[in-house]
Amino acid sequence: MGVLSVDHLLGIKYIDKNDIQLIFETADHFKEVINRPIKKVPSLRDFTIANIFFENSTRTKLSFELAEKRLSADIVNFSAGQSSVKKGETLVDTVNNILSMKVDMVVMRHPNPGAGVFLSNHINASIVNAGDGAHEHPTQALLDSYSIREKLGEVGGKKVVVVGDVLHSRVALSNIFALQKQGAEVMLCGPKTLIPKHIHKLGVQVEQDLKKALHWCDVANMLRVQNERMDVSYFPSTREYSQQYQLNKNLLDSLDKEIVVMHPGPINRGVEITSDVADSEHSIILNQVENGVAIRMAVIYLLASKIKK
Ligand code: NCD
Repeated sequence: MGVLSVDHLLGIKYIDKNDIQLIFETADHFKEVINRPIKKVPSLRDFTIANIFFENSTRTKLSFELAEKRLSADIVNFSAGQSSVKKGETLVDTVNNILSMKVDMVVMRHPNPGAGVFLSNHINASIVNAGDGAHEHPTQALLDSYSIREKLGEVGGKKVVVVGDVLHSRVALSNIFALQKQGAEVMLCGPKTLIPKHIHKLGVQVEQDLKKALHWCDVANMLRVQNERMDVSYFPSTREYSQQYQLNKNLLDSLDKEIVVMHPGPINRGVEITSDVADSEHSIILNQVENGVAIRMAVIYLLASKIKK
């Protein structure tokens, strides 16, 4: 069994292709485990994990909890909902709480970019970033690539377009890093106001026209319009956004090929994607959710095996 090159999963930026490969091979094993009648392994008995969520989450939180339970870890949960406390105070507080709980690993979602890196420098536990502001969401990108690999055989050489609100999306940045490290080509598509200005420096193509982007790609990863992160208007109206950037059946049917449709959830049905597309045979959205548990089991298991008890 291989070993990860890192002690924390803070972002895809910090891991390499071999790490990704190792996580996928380990996830293959756990995917088989969670499809057995008894979905549990005793690997992490005597291991304690704190799930600390300073931002709302449905599937990511559930997915981490399930992954931890299926590895037989002890878990404690802390949700601060839409906490408005300032970064410094919050994290120092968090650090002290965690230290006194004697946990081995912390899974954290936080509105501030870099929160995981900060924590990893201040406490003696393994940190998994479950989303830090608009920065990174590494386990989401891993489960996205894993789902592409499952559907298309491999990620290398594939063309993936990430569509929509790239500006506010940690899923987009982690996907860019993950896909490029595996040799895929990445394109971003959305209104100019929602594509970060200098993003082409990361070696991605930028396309404003959704139809052209769809003709180019093998996979379309549709992002949610993150209204809660918008302090000003980035497009005239939701209706206008949908007219230009919604993936609907007409658009899919107008292509001369089949593409794979993805979405990290939660979906705004009728805004960035229509229901008939989200629920169609092109969509692997629910496979992504299923694979999320196996990927998180793999990440936690591999990081835990680096901690000397
Ligand atoms: C994403 C997130 O929270 O970054 N969702 C998720 O983790 N599945 C994307 C989003 O909120 O739109």
